[in-house]
Order: sequence, then C-alpha cells, then structure tokens
Amino acid sequence: MPIPVKNAIVAAIAPRGVRRMACTLMMLCFLAVSADSSRAESMEVQCRPTAPDSLGPFYKPGAPERESVGSGYLLTGVVLSAQTCLPIPGARVEFWMNGPNGEYDDAFRATVFSKQDGAYRFESHHPKDYFGRPPHIHIRVSADGFNTLVTQHYPSVQTSQGDLDLVVLPQP
Ligand SMILES: [Fe+2]
Repeated sequence: MPIPVKNAIVAAIAPRGVRRMACTLMMLCFLAVSADSSRAESMEVQCRPTAPDSLGPFYKPGAPERESVGSGYLLTGVVLSAQTCLPIPGARVEFWMNGPNGEYDDAFRATVFSKQDGAYRFESHHPKDYFGRPPHIHIRVSADGFNTLVTQHYPSVQTSQGDLDLVVLPQP
C-alpha cells in the first residue's frame, strides 16, 4: 500500500529517534499544563476575589505611611484572603489619586497597613473626574503569601464614604 505523500515526507525527514523525542516532549508539555490547571481548580475560594483594575501611569512606590491626605471622603474595609475569608493583618495597602485640581501629586499618595482584624481606612477629598474617567482612587494591596492586587475604587458622586473589602488570592 503506498504511503500518503504527507506521511512519507515526515518519515523521510524525521528519523525514528527524533520522532520519539518529539512525542515525549509533547507528552511532558501536556502533563505540565494539566498539573497547572488542576492546581488552579483545586484552590477553593470562599470569598470572591476583588476584581483587578488597571495600574495607570501614576503609580509610585514608597508612598508615605498615613491614613489621610485630605478630608471629605472616607474609604474603609477589610483585607481578606479569598481562600479562607479570614482577615489579613499587616497587608500593605497603597493609595494614589488626583488632587482637588485634578492633577496627580505626591501629596495624594499614601500607604497604610491593615490592622490585626484586617481593617484599613483612608481619608481624602472626593476624587475628581480625570480626562473623562469617573472619579476614582487607585489601590495596590500586597501581603506575604498572596498575589499583589491592583484595583480602583469608584466613589459615587454624592457620597462622603465608601466601604470596600480587598480580597486577595493566595500565591499558588
Ligand atoms: Fe487614575
């Protein structure tokens, strides 16, 4: 029976040892991908993780530790583990936002650490619109053993306080 042209070409250009090695590599890749998938699926999540949002161009590390950069809007919440729903004490929570004049400035950056019960608070002016975007406060959460979360909070226009739990995923 004649060998189909395509198989004949493969057989001609790939010696048996090379074909066997290629098959082994493909099998190893398949097993690695399967292991990653099952690991992700096996993590039981008790609390819905906070949705990530864009970092934006104005993040700067090393913001001073302080709970207030102004007055008029108070944001509070708890840093939680998505896996257990338990509070995470000592999480670093960084905030940055535009000033009352609409410009980003070091005066409106802050770092706070969650308390023993996971609670945090951050006080500021009510953020302004920024180039057509709704008022928002940028937030970055980092804690040992957890993935870093970058998100944003969008206060309602008429409100002077908001409540936002920051739910982070454990590192795999
Ligand atoms: Fe922004």
